[in-house]
Amino acid sequence: MAVYFLSFLVCFALRAEAFALEPRLTWQESEISLTRFQVQDVYNYSTLLLSDDNNVLYIGAREVIFAVNSQNISEKKQEAYWKVTEVKNEECSRKGKSKQTECLNYIRVLQPFNESALFVCGTNAFQPVCDILELNSFKLAGKNEDGRGRCPFDPAQSYTSVMVDGDLYSGTSFTFLGSEPIICRNSQHLSYLRTEYAVPWLNEPRFVHADVIRAPENNPDGDDDKVYFFFTEVSVEYEFFNKLLIPRIARVCKSDQGGLRTLQKKWTTFLKARMICHSPENNLIFNVVNDVFILKLREPVIYGVFTSHLNNVGMSAVCSYSLSTVEDVFTKGKYMQSATVEQAHTKWVQFNGEIPKPRPGACINNEAKAMNYTSSLNLPDKTLQFVKDHPLMDDSVAPIGKRPKLVHQNVTYTQIVVDQVTALDGNTYDVMFISTDKGMLHKAVSHDMDMRIIEEIVLFPDHQAIQTLLLSDKQAKRYIYAGSSTEVVQTPVAFCEKLASCAECILTRDPYCAWHKGKNSCVNILAESNTDRLLIQSLNGDSSHCPASSPILFPPPVTSLVSSMASELHPSLSSMPLEVQSSTDSDVLKLLPPFLSDQGQLVQVHATFHLFCHGTGPKDSHFLWEKDGVKMESCAKDAILPLSGGNVHILGWVRDIATKDAEYRCTIETVAGRKSSRVFVRVTGSLNPGWSNELSRWKSAISEHSNIMEGWKKNWDGAMQCSVIRANSSGS
Ligand SMILES: *[C@@H]1O[C@H](CO)[C@@H](O)[C@H](O)[C@H]1NC(C)=O
Ligand SMILES: *[C@@H]1O[C@H](CO)[C@@H](O)[C@H](O)[C@H]1NC(C)=O
Ligand SMILES: *[C@@H]1O[C@H](CO)[C@@H](O)[C@H](O)[C@H]1NC(C)=O
Ligand SMILES: *[C@@H]1O[C@H](CO)[C@@H](O)[C@H](O)[C@H]1NC(C)=O
Ligand SMILES: *[C@@H]1O[C@H](CO)[C@@H](O)[C@H](O)[C@H]1NC(C)=O
Ligand SMILES: *[C@@H]1O[C@H](CO)[C@@H](O)[C@H](O)[C@H]1NC(C)=O
Repeated sequence: MAVYFLSFLVCFALRAEAFALEPRLTWQESEISLTRFQVQDVYNYSTLLLSDDNNVLYIGAREVIFAVNSQNISEKKQEAYWKVTEVKNEECSRKGKSKQTECLNYIRVLQPFNESALFVCGTNAFQPVCDILELNSFKLAGKNEDGRGRCPFDPAQSYTSVMVDGDLYSGTSFTFLGSEPIICRNSQHLSYLRTEYAVPWLNEPRFVHADVIRAPENNPDGDDDKVYFFFTEVSVEYEFFNKLLIPRIARVCKSDQGGLRTLQKKWTTFLKARMICHSPENNLIFNVVNDVFILKLREPVIYGVFTSHLNNVGMSAVCSYSLSTVEDVFTKGKYMQSATVEQAHTKWVQFNGEIPKPRPGACINNEAKAMNYTSSLNLPDKTLQFVKDHPLMDDSVAPIGKRPKLVHQNVTYTQIVVDQVTALDGNTYDVMFISTDKGMLHKAVSHDMDMRIIEEIVLFPDHQAIQTLLLSDKQAKRYIYAGSSTEVVQTPVAFCEKLASCAECILTRDPYCAWHKGKNSCVNILAESNTDRLLIQSLNGDSSHCPASSPILFPPPVTSLVSSMASELHPSLSSMPLEVQSSTDSDVLKLLPPFLSDQGQLVQVHATFHLFCHGTGPKDSHFLWEKDGVKMESCAKDAILPLSGGNVHILGWVRDIATKDAEYRCTIETVAGRKSSRVFVRVTGSLNPGWSNELSRWKSAISEHSNIMEGWKKNWDGAMQCSVIRANSSGS
């Protein structure tokens, strides 16, 4: 199976122009009971902060801060209301803002302050304020500090912040109208620093993320800790008929103290560069960064989710960058400079003149210290003036592999978090959790060169946009928290225990999951200790190591909708451990594993082969089969098994003779909708090693299914009112 998968994937990736396949499994809300937190009349659960040591999740919503149990967020521990005063509310509405929505206090900053307090800021009816929240009493200290520069005025404006050693670094806007963008540091013991208010520094930015990367201890350059900011802004360097948006990474050094005369109280280390997220095969350019997550390894990796407002609207991509590439751009790259061409028209071009020393924008490192510059305050004017005029690098930051890790159609990705899990093969896998603006969470894992979306989880069945994602990566209990306008939802990182057969457990190719031979169940490996010899995991999807005694379930157990009818009425089914569950979702239409995409394979030229799909849906469900987009008719068959509650289980298969490579697609169709799966079948001249065990087992399962169908047909043909059943496998 492994070999088939690989060849199939490589080939498919080229043919399908690198678009990610549809998620392999979709978990509906009814199948996984997720824990939710919601308080009546409270909205905009937009700020989350985790205190993993104390098992507390802090939630900043509109006019209130909550503390909930991070292991079960439906357990509220404390709350602190922080409402705007009537006077402020009135004042704000007189300035033309909405009294009921905008002129309220949206909690935007929730950062650890010390062991017993949080630092919090809110928009406070367009007069941002900050305060200290004491955790024991869960009361605000009432400091009401001016929050300008730390918190936006307008709840609709973008902002980001990160607390580093007690200092708040934030990207927001400084004015009521939101016209003055700023990246600043508010500190107890270091000087207040900010960006210049000038187009080359920040040009209508939309901030998405900020984080710190610590310099390694005793690093040879004597380099400093750095704070990175990610945003999308209007380009100055490209000419376009309209405003051209461009994704940026900017950074400042922690020890920056500003200049003495030039750049007084301003960053002397602010540099920014373009981030590239571009798919060269099909020339898709992703120019809007929506969120960033930094995986802090020894060599940190920056993951970004991107969309586009150019040629590929409706697509999203994930690109990843290594920090060393970023640092090379800032420490060795060329700068840009503005040149006036014709009158009053400036053009940004590469700077090719002499660069002053110490290098403009560099931290105070060994090189600067060797020149006797021990602080940014005594840097020479030439260096400072240069960085003031040249904050933009000419070199850009290219993604790892020079292309996106993932491109997906018809979806808008909003947020990303990335977990790492060491699988039983000893390799460490990055697992990406990516949210959409329609309430979905995609879980994607990279196997070899290929990135697959292994699961889709319906977090918000009402399709709300997911605004915040947070990962709790404690060893055994890992969760994702997602915030929206109306609630917060908590999901485990994997649903291994829902996969009831060994084959299904392996086919999911989820590095968290393995089949436990002792327990005869699919388990999360992080929750197991020292049971390696009892666990089976094979991330290439090869389930041939599954114990022979492990029953092949048909339909597979993920079909929670299969009724008790079958096992009562048919002896050969009753011996199978069907999961019996009465369905409340009578209109659920779904394909069930193994999907067509799991049947990726090489076939021999002129040999006959079969493909099959099955699923559950309403009574009118039927399969449509296509080969290279052309409907297949005579060779396609359906068999239907009625379930209690009015739904049916439907199996469809095709028999074909291969002469050339082709894409096959099965689609289950009903008036209620459609679901498809597809596979690319490659034809080879030489004899391949034969069908995998997995597939031959499924083939025998199908033939058993056909027998059952035949049995049913006879049974029901002889009975009187048998209109529900339709079995048509004649000629197969
Ligand atoms: C706050 O929540 C309300 C209610 O869902 C929503 O209409 C509004 O857009 C949200 N506002 C912001 C700034 O997220
Ligand atoms: C979470 O807490 C709620 C309320 O206390 C309780 O009803 C529920 O069973 C708990 N859920 C889990 C998974 O423990
Ligand atoms: C945390 O900060 C608050 C406010 O400044 C102060 O009252 C409190 O004593 C501090 N707690 C600790 C443990 O330092
Ligand atoms: C740096 O300062 C030291 C001591 O004041 C002096 O000996 C040395 O020559 C200076 N180095 C440079 C490059 O100016
Ligand atoms: C895009 O997704 C929506 C649901 O999210 C679906 O209704 C629509 O048919 C999809 N369009 C295409 C072209 O796949
Ligand atoms: C079975 O298929 C044949 C030909 O494909 C068709 O004539 C016949 O009506 C079908 N029978 C049923 C019960 O659908």
